[in-house]
Parts: sequence; structure tokens; C-alpha cells
Amino acid sequence: MNDKLARWNQLEEICLHCSACQLAARRTNVVFGEGVLDSAVMFVGEGPGEQEDLQGRPFVGPAGQLLDRMMAAIGLSRAENAIICNIVKCRPPGNRTPSPEEGDKCLPFLRAQVDIVRPRIIVCLGATAVRHIFNPESRITRMRGQWLDRKGFWITATYHPAALLRDPSRKAEAWADMKAIKSKLEELRINE
Ligand code: URA
Repeated sequence: MNDKLARWNQLEEICLHCSACQLAARRTNVVFGEGVLDSAVMFVGEGPGEQEDLQGRPFVGPAGQLLDRMMAAIGLSRAENAIICNIVKCRPPGNRTPSPEEGDKCLPFLRAQVDIVRPRIIVCLGATAVRHIFNPESRITRMRGQWLDRKGFWITATYHPAALLRDPSRKAEAWADMKAIKSKLEELRINE
């Protein structure tokens, strides 16, 4: 087993037994993350929904199907060259937004995942990811399409796919964001 996989599995094992916040009590499954550990791009959502909680996999409901299509449009997939994680690994009841405290409690797992994968690009999907990864005052409408070079990681943001399902008028902006991710990969000479 390679080193990354061993570290990932070890971290997942710890996460599976986590009870650091109240979300643990009502979960069916921990949704740790899914994809290729050598990926150049990591997508970070908010937290598992109903389907994800039932299956233990991220982004498998309607929003996930849209995310898969958005990734495919720029040559990315969780099976081949991308990885998908969330800010919180357990489903918030009724799909409410995780509280800042729940996000903060879970964030060490995401930091450790980033440290293992060492993606070149981190894509925040929606407001919750933006607030935890950029800063608590950041707004998705202002941060989307922007790029920040932080400690060697290029960080950007786009709308959460669930928001696009609710408001398709934002799809053009999201498509521009996805094309910008492709251009950044080309600039970094990855996936050419
Ligand atoms: N929404 C998210 O933010 N993450 C998932 O895994 C599924 C839906």
C-alpha cells in the first residue's frame, strides 16, 4: 500500500469514530470523501445530504450528478483525476447549514486530507466552504471566480451545485468558473 493511501485510510478510520460534535449522534454514515489521492484538484462541498448519509459517499444525490457533469465538462472525474470532500463529514439534520462550530470541529479532518493529497487547486463549492476556507466574512458572490495563492495551493470558488439547481440563471457564471479551473490546470501544465 502506498504512503498516501495508508495515511488516508488511517485518517478515515479516526473520522469514522469521531463524536466531536452533535452531528455524530444522528448520522447513518460518515462521508469522508472520495476520489483519486494524487489529484491536482480537490472540490470541497458543505456536508452530506440524505443520499450521501445513506450511502457514505459524497455528492451522490441530484447536486452530485450535476457536479459530476460540471467536472466532466473540463475533463475531471472522481474516478480518474479529482477528489471530493466536504467541510463536515456528517449530515446536518434536515440538511441545515452546519454551524460555524460544527465546521470548525471538523476542519482538522479536511486540513489533514489536503495535507495527504496536496492538490494544486482547491475549489470551494458554495458559501459554507468559502467561509471556512477563505474566511468567515467571505461571500460566495464576491469570491467566486477569484484565485488566491495560499501556501502553495491555488484556491478558488464557485456556486454549490445545489444552488445551481435552485437558480439555473447562475449556471453561466459557474461554467465560466469551471473553464477558469481548466485554464489554471493548463497554466500549471497539468492534464494537458
Ligand atoms: N452537498 C454537499 O455539500 N456535499 C455533499 O456531499 C452532497 C451535497
